[in-house]
Amino acid sequence: MTGVPIISVVGLHGWYGKSHILQGIDLTVGNGELLALLGRNGVGKTTTMRAISGTLARAEGDVRLAGLPVLGQPAHVVARRGLSLVPEHRGIFGTLTVEENLSLAARRGSPWSTERIWSMFPSLADRRRTPGGKLSGGEQQMLAIGRALVTGPKLLLLDEPTEGLAPVIVDRLIEILRELKAAGLSMLLVEQSLAVCTAVADRFAILDGGRIVWEGDGPALMSAEDVRARHLTLEHA
Ligand SMILES: Nc1ncnc2c1ncn2[C@@H]1O[C@H](COP(=O)(O)OP(=O)(O)O)[C@@H](O)[C@H]1O
Ligand SMILES: [Mg+2]
Repeated sequence: MTGVPIISVVGLHGWYGKSHILQGIDLTVGNGELLALLGRNGVGKTTTMRAISGTLARAEGDVRLAGLPVLGQPAHVVARRGLSLVPEHRGIFGTLTVEENLSLAARRGSPWSTERIWSMFPSLADRRRTPGGKLSGGEQQMLAIGRALVTGPKLLLLDEPTEGLAPVIVDRLIEILRELKAAGLSMLLVEQSLAVCTAVADRFAILDGGRIVWEGDGPALMSAEDVRARHLTLEHA
């Protein structure tokens, strides 16, 4: 990795009320890199994404986006600095049209204009006047990604984007992640499917007990059978 990482997380702690969930997370994502964050259900992957993006009520530690501290900043400030979260369950506006969902999120100067989103996702272009809530699961996921892209992110966080999608849509999503990588976008991906992760990730980090317990590349993960058995769910198979 060269230069300042797009994000560096050191000693990140996070709580829900008195439950101390994140117990000192350390991770970095380099420029243009895709890091897959893995771990069993309930270990704190979503909580990590929320803490980094400024939507967890109580978090402590050092989180730097392109070198600038962001922890404790409101979510809209973190977003303006270039971090965009595609949340679990997508978070689009069901009563607004596809086009309204995009135009509300769009920021001037983003390399991903609404026009570019239409050409990336032709099925969304065809349904631009349809309410978000009437889209299929796959289209909703594409719209959620489109919404994140039009903000012009430096780092895209994706929380289980393939959850509940048909295999053919999952394949399309893999292509999209590859296109985004080819365009130089840095990404942090939480994903249950190991097949999806190995198709796109440069590096893997495994979360357990509130900490990162393993880090490595694809070949290292493939040869670490004990690590996979201990930390990955059946869905990761
Ligand atoms: N809003 C919440 N309030 C209290 N506890 C929560 C909340 N969301 C998640 N948790 C708990 O925090 C832990 C981590 O959850 P989460 O980050 O969602 O895990 P993962 O995304 O890895 O499946 C779990 O024990 C979960 O029950
Ligand atoms: Mg989760």
